[in-house]
Amino acid sequence: MKQKQSSKLGDYEVHKAWEGFSSIRQLSSGEIMHSRTAPMEEARQLYVEQSRLAERLGRSSEDESPLVIWDAGLGAAANAMAAIECYEEVPAGRPMRIVSFENDLDSLRLALLCREDFPYLRADAAKALLADGHWQSQNHPGLSWLLFPGDFLEAMSRAPAPDFIFYDMFSTKTSAQLWTAATFQRVFAACAGRPAELFTYTCSTANRAALLAAGFYVARGRNAGEKLETTIALTPAAFQSGLAGRRKLLSRDWLAKWERSAAKFPGDIGPNERSVFEEIIREHEQFRNSPEPERLLSTT
Ligand SMILES: C[S@@+](CC[C@H](N)C(=O)[O-])C[C@H]1O[C@@H](n2cnc3c(N)ncnc32)[C@H](O)[C@@H]1O
Repeated sequence: MKQKQSSKLGDYEVHKAWEGFSSIRQLSSGEIMHSRTAPMEEARQLYVEQSRLAERLGRSSEDESPLVIWDAGLGAAANAMAAIECYEEVPAGRPMRIVSFENDLDSLRLALLCREDFPYLRADAAKALLADGHWQSQNHPGLSWLLFPGDFLEAMSRAPAPDFIFYDMFSTKTSAQLWTAATFQRVFAACAGRPAELFTYTCSTANRAALLAAGFYVARGRNAGEKLETTIALTPAAFQSGLAGRRKLLSRDWLAKWERSAAKFPGDIGPNERSVFEEIIREHEQFRNSPEPERLLSTT
């Protein structure tokens, strides 16, 4: 008789949403990866469609170097699978390399053990990634996937510079360090002056301020599932390359709300650093030519 597969591994368990799909829940924090939207739906909407990955891959370019996507973190690989799916649908595009970061591979192992709950998962690719640290598509010579195991903060310095960053870390409650100004400064530096864009599910004021302080231009991202708004960050080179024209950059209205916010500062900005941080945000280039915020009519 076939034994029933356990739905737990290490710090993870399979979570069944009442909507009918499964995702992975971290036991220690209670955080669910892609909680209210089916993993592939969110992955396609928030990361693949927003980045216009298909268009970027299909565009004929003299630059035949691979388009590099940072998949931070890998989790149960929905975002990576959505990028692979997109590549396979684009005819004869530019090469693409997915670079996944993960410090606990048990969530991917668990998803592989419970395949019927994660039908999107390509077992051949995921097993090769776990066993060898990389996967090369047999059908598409331009498509490859690399794993950087361990702490993202340590591993990112060894990774090839990104064109896109799918920033899908646990929230500030669980992974506070990954949303600090210092971390985003390092991510910014790793973009090495290239036109890169970062996509993330958060729309938190403090997280957006951390991205701005690191040097990114910051725009509103689309809604996805229960999230009314998400966030896109652009390097200055991406901003100048014309990509910004398609993005809804935060304006001085946002700045005015940030000034009044009780959550203005990322976790690593202590009381003594606040005034310098405030000046960096107020003086950010992106607000220079932005229209003045609408004045509230006085009722007195
Ligand atoms: C929200 S989940 C990612 C979900 C994933 N993108 C997917 O599509 O299934 C966040 C992942 O980041 C990993 N993580 C947390 N801290 C990390 C760190 N410092 N370095 C690398 N990975 C980390 C977690 O183990 C978890 O798998």
